[in-house]
Amino acid sequence: MTVHIGAKKGDIAETILLPGDPLRARFVAEKYLENPVCYNEVRGMYGYTGHYKGKRISVQGTGMGMPSIGIYSHELIADYGVKNLIRIGSCGSFNENIKVRDVLLAMSASTNSNYASQYELPGTFAPTASYELLEKAKKAADEKSIPVKVGNILSSDIFYDANPDAWKKWAALGVMGVEMEAAALYMNAAKLGANALAILTVSDSLVTHELTTSEEREKTLTDMIEIALELA
Ligand code: ADE
Repeated sequence: MTVHIGAKKGDIAETILLPGDPLRARFVAEKYLENPVCYNEVRGMYGYTGHYKGKRISVQGTGMGMPSIGIYSHELIADYGVKNLIRIGSCGSFNENIKVRDVLLAMSASTNSNYASQYELPGTFAPTASYELLEKAKKAADEKSIPVKVGNILSSDIFYDANPDAWKKWAALGVMGVEMEAAALYMNAAKLGANALAILTVSDSLVTHELTTSEEREKTLTDMIEIALELA
């Protein structure tokens, strides 16, 4: 048991899916896993372990933002020995060619967060996905004929930005879109010796202000989850 996770050592699989919403963790466990067992209810941040196509896999809610995913991913790696951490989440698009419902693989995660200051580096750190997980996810997407875009995303500390045009400077550097967790996940994985990847579904566009309907979200979430489960 750790400060935030009420599981025993061995209760959590080496590979874990990490949705921000704990109810989505429960949904994934109940819909996709064989014999799911709930190992965590602390703070309502559900975590389950089960099997997918015979392979042991866990799914754990992380909450929103880098401080929250920073806590869960640290405890999962350092205290429970988790090796492969796959965030499944949503993002906003910065590019007119990246439409709502598109699926993105975050090869790297730029950030406006101060998270890396803890390492006291003499420069800036580039948070990157595990190449192995990225390659496997791209291959799984190709095999399922799910189109994906691979590139850089922004992990932001701010959802409601006081400057509504701030995103355009990131977009001008080719950043595909914005979410709020991947950079901290990638930094914890780098520091603690694990593999991480964020797979994201575009839920809204900062360019066109389009939003997905709940039925559309359901369909693309399925695509994203099915890619992620293949990484077990
Ligand atoms: N997640 C989904 N859409 C987002 C947005 N527009 N900004 C930050 N995180 C998001």
